[in-house]
Amino acid sequence: MGAGGVPSTPDTLGIRVTEAGDGHVDAIASFFWEAWRSSGPDAPGWAGASEEVIAELTTSEAIRERIGGPERRMFLAWEGNRVVAFAATRSEDAEAVELVGIIVLQDMMGHGIETPLLESAARWAVEAGFRRMSVKTEATNDRALGFYRSRGFIDSRMLVEDVEGTAMELSELIRTL
Ligand SMILES: CC(C)(COP(=O)(O)OP(=O)(O)OC[C@H]1O[C@@H](n2cnc3c(N)ncnc32)[C@H](O)[C@@H]1OP(=O)(O)O)[C@@H](O)C(=O)NCCC(=O)NCCS
Repeated sequence: MGAGGVPSTPDTLGIRVTEAGDGHVDAIASFFWEAWRSSGPDAPGWAGASEEVIAELTTSEAIRERIGGPERRMFLAWEGNRVVAFAATRSEDAEAVELVGIIVLQDMMGHGIETPLLESAARWAVEAGFRRMSVKTEATNDRALGFYRSRGFIDSRMLVEDVEGTAMELSELIRTL
């Protein structure tokens, strides 16, 4: 059983999914640096992610704020002691939760690791009483859009948001839980 009561979810690659806990801060920071370095700042899903932004996101304080607070949850996929994928949620109101990010390490993509991760987040959200999960991603991020659409998300609207100083066209999708 992972922190916060989310069961570990083994799959054929030997990947476990747990909820993130305070003891995982260093592993999460290493994951973000490895994910960013291997994808590159211009890769889909990494809009606005300069080295400075990653440095800010990976301080112990910034990571702790995203773990298990009243409004935020983080879920991790592990291969041994290494985090190979992450997903995070933030509650919007009593009924709606946003999936604020899901990232798989470049060399682990294409194995379906993101599915147990998403389903762990969705299972937690259902148990917490949420009715809808939304997600926003770059309108050009075809791989992420294909993934979300194949896992029950429906296109909701297009919007433009400031992402680290750049106006980005985003697509929002919603899944009924
Ligand atoms: C988005 C992401 C999490 C998906 O994980 P992945 O390991 O690449 O996904 P998979 O290759 O296992 O494919 C999962 C599903 O996505 C869809 N998909 C995959 N590649 C696709 C493509 N090029 N075009 C459209 N859909 C695609 C398929 O529906 C697939 O479902 P299937 O396995 O039932 O066929 C991963 O690519 C990633 O981390 N990208 C960088 C960060 C990012 O963009 N995150 C999302 C925005 S925050």
